Amino acid sequence: MNDRHEHWNDVYGAREETALTWFEAIPTVSLELIRKFADANDPILDVGGGASRIVDSLIDLGFSRISILDLSEAGMNVSRCRLGSRADKVTWITEDVTKWVPDQPCRLWHDRAVFHFLTSKDDCRAYVSRMLSALEPSGIAIIMTFAEDGPEMCSGLPVMRYSPEDLVATLEEIAPGALKTVDMRKHVHMTPKGNEQRFQVSVLRKAGQ
Ligand SMILES: C[S@@+](CC[C@H](N)C(=O)[O-])C[C@H]1O[C@@H](n2cnc3c(N)ncnc32)[C@H](O)[C@@H]1O
Repeated sequence: MNDRHEHWNDVYGAREETALTWFEAIPTVSLELIRKFADANDPILDVGGGASRIVDSLIDLGFSRISILDLSEAGMNVSRCRLGSRADKVTWITEDVTKWVPDQPCRLWHDRAVFHFLTSKDDCRAYVSRMLSALEPSGIAIIMTFAEDGPEMCSGLPVMRYSPEDLVATLEEIAPGALKTVDMRKHVHMTPKGNEQRFQVSVLRKAGQ
């Protein structure tokens, strides 16, 4: 296994889920956008879902085709344990998003705080290529990253910071004309210790009918 995989398994092994800086008891912004752009029977993929409680809320809301992808099984195991038998309603995919070969189309791609860890152009290109092959025509991608005035590091790793315009320009450079911007916004996340982390949130629609 590679360093990335070990790094993230160590992160999830070292701290309680509720002490992780990115912890959200209820992922309000993500849920609002997912409900706006997908129906309960649409296939939804949460990329880098880790231990996120978004899956609990999506099951509660009746979403029936949920997949969680993460390279850390330790992170996803936290969610599986918390969900108990409800975990069987979810497809769990242990993969690095930059290497994954999608085998099922998804209507909605959700990424909170994963793309910004990709600091090389090659990884960004690999991510976008995977995303475009996973998304159905006119499918929706919600990508949340640290904003241009957000943190420079997370979990001991350097991150890229994007304004919504920077993110859209990066995607356009990699895949010209493949995605159309539907929504852009800023969001401030409060960590469990009460520190602010500034995010940008971009919603894009894949070209096609
Ligand atoms: C900062 S956490 C965010 C977790 C979750 N999205 C949330 O909002 O609670 C980043 C997550 O991305 C996962 N991750 C990092 N790089 C990844 C990659 N290349 N492929 C798949 N997952 C990755 C980590 O294991 C971790 O679960």
